[in-house]
Formats: sequence, C-alpha cells, structure tokens
Amino acid sequence: MRLKDCHNFHDFKKLAKKKLPSPIFHYLDGAAEDETTYQRNTSAYNDVDLVPNVLRGVENIDLSTTIFGKKLDLPFYLSPTALQRLFHYHGERAVAKAAEKYNTMFGLSTVGTVPIEEFNNLNAPKMFQFYYHKDRGINDAVLERVKASTFDVLALTVDTITAGNRERDLRTGFKSPPQLTLSSLFSFISKPMWGLNYVFREKFEIPLLKDNVSALSNVSTSIGSYFSTMLDQSMNWNDAEKLASDWGGHFALKGVMNVEDAKRAVDIGCTGIIVSNHGGRQLDGQRSNFDQLAEIVDAVGDKIDVICEGGIQRSTHMLKALSMGAKAVAGGRLYLYALAAAGQAGVEKALGLYKTALERDMKLMGCTKIDELRRDNLRFRN
Ligand code: LAC
Repeated sequence: MRLKDCHNFHDFKKLAKKKLPSPIFHYLDGAAEDETTYQRNTSAYNDVDLVPNVLRGVENIDLSTTIFGKKLDLPFYLSPTALQRLFHYHGERAVAKAAEKYNTMFGLSTVGTVPIEEFNNLNAPKMFQFYYHKDRGINDAVLERVKASTFDVLALTVDTITAGNRERDLRTGFKSPPQLTLSSLFSFISKPMWGLNYVFREKFEIPLLKDNVSALSNVSTSIGSYFSTMLDQSMNWNDAEKLASDWGGHFALKGVMNVEDAKRAVDIGCTGIIVSNHGGRQLDGQRSNFDQLAEIVDAVGDKIDVICEGGIQRSTHMLKALSMGAKAVAGGRLYLYALAAAGQAGVEKALGLYKTALERDMKLMGCTKIDELRRDNLRFRN
C-alpha cells in the first residue's frame, strides 16, 4: 500500500499503521478506557441526516470562513497536536506547509517538536495550544516565546486537568522519547525506516519545554504521567482570565463541553471556544462534541466563534457540524494518519481530498457558501 492508494481517512490510517511502530500508532489512534466517546465522536454524525436543496445554481463554491478575525480558505483546520515528529520526521514542518498551501489554520502544541520560531514566516493563520503548568516559570517562558512569535490565537487546553486513562498506552508502554523495552522491541525492529529516521535525523525533543523540563525530551515519560504531575490541577477561571489578558490577543478555551462554561468563556474575554473532548482521550463516557454542539452554539454562537473539534472523518461530517452552527471544524487524526503515512505529501493529499469532497458535497447540498448551511438542512433520526 502506498500514498497513491489512499483515497480516504481509513486508507491513511491503514498506511499509518504499516509505517509506525505499534506503541506510536496506538498512542495516536487510541483513546480513554473503552473508547466509547472516541467512537461516538464519529458515529454521532451518522445520527443526523443531510436534507439537500436543488436547482440553486452551484457552479462556484466558496469554502472560506472567518475565525478569530482570520479568513481561512477551508472551513476546517489542523488542530494542534503533540509529538508530531514521532509520526513522521517532518512533523510540524510538514503540517504547517500543507496548511499554508491550502490557506487554513495550522496549530502548534506546547508539546510540539519543532521550534516555534520556525513558523514566524509561515503564510497561514496560526493557533498555539497552551498547557498550563504548575511551575509558573514554565508558563511564563512559553508565553514569552509565543508572544515573540507571529501566532494569531492562543488556545488554553482545559480538558487535560489530569491524565485520561489510555489503556493502549499502558499496554504498549508508550513514552516520549520512545523507549525500547523488551515487549516493544519487535514492533520497533519491524519498522526499520522509522527507526533509521528516528536515530539519524535531528534529535527528538520538545523545544518549548526542554530548557526547563527533562521529561518528554530527555527522560522517557508517559503523556499520562506528564499530565498528572506537571500540569496545574488548581487551574481555575481566574487563571484563564489572567492568561487571556496577559496574552492580549485572540484567545480560546480548547475542550469546552458545557453551556455554562461556554458562557463563562465569553465573560472572561474569549473570542472563541473549541467544543472538544480531546478526541475521546480524556474522560470516556462523556458526550460527543457534535452531540453537544447545538446547545453551545445556541448559547454563545452569536458572541464568539464556536469550533467543533473531533471525530471528523468525512466532508459530510464537516457539513453537518457547520450546518449545526459551528464557524469551523477541526481535528487531529484528520491529518495525523496522513502525516504518518507520507509526511507533507500525505497531509497535502488528505487536505486536497477533503477540499474536493467538500466542494462536491456543497453542490449536492445546493449551497455555494458555508453560511448557507443551515439547521433546516439537518434531520435527527430516532
Ligand atoms: C494527547 C495530548 C498530548 O492527547 O494532546 O496525547
């Protein structure tokens, strides 16, 4: 199987599985406990049907949307995700270039693997994902570098107050940096290309954290243990408000699921919120982001940008979330399997496929612009 054989999300996932040592594949693919929320994040879209219009003159489709004051040519963007150079040695560089090519938003995580300064000249809107540490020195150092960069939006992660119980990672022993253990030896040996790239290309590390923390860059640590020991469990609304004001630009909470919290986000000065459950990787059994979207849009959608993040595997999933009232949609696995499958070429191919599919489906829906997608075009089954 090669990149030319990838025609959809599932194909990229298959190819990613072939390329990655299994602890890394399962870190990316896995979620919390029984993974019911993870599965529901996608199946929720299938409980709603599209009801198209006809005879509307749909030759020219405009897929653009504006979020955080930035115009994106596509209504979906590439969520910030951690440790991307483990998935492909190009890591965030590949993802950023693909975002630039399609003029959509690129996300960089605090736990990213390429220095933030490298993206200063990237000609695409940029979101930075902030993890709030107990050690205020780390928070200050990270914020200073983000402020000195050209990033447009700061997104504070609020759904990782402690580690989710990701049992696949417990089973495989996944850590960053990856560690060879007796049980994982075979899976690393069986992917020699990955191993060669890992050993001979630039040293794996987390540039924004490595000067203050040895975990994740030099001392192998699980994401679970990093979250539960390093992040600040006392983080509260005052902290979020202070961060928003210290940052002074477009600010979002990433991982809001509750209407009450969405309203409070408006009060503390957020210009957007990301309705997300962290790809089902934190609290299993919680509601899917799409199921929860309508009530959040109804409560705050006229005041701030509401983004639906998670579970998206098809352009029709995007159309459903946009019809429900999201200003844009986003995802991680949406492009990460493609990154693992074939680096920049993979991500570009994935984005191209979603774009072509969106244009086709907009025509079939009888809509030429994203804001023509309405709730009247949706019906719930049951
Ligand atoms: C994860 C974090 C690091 O879900 O975003 O693994």
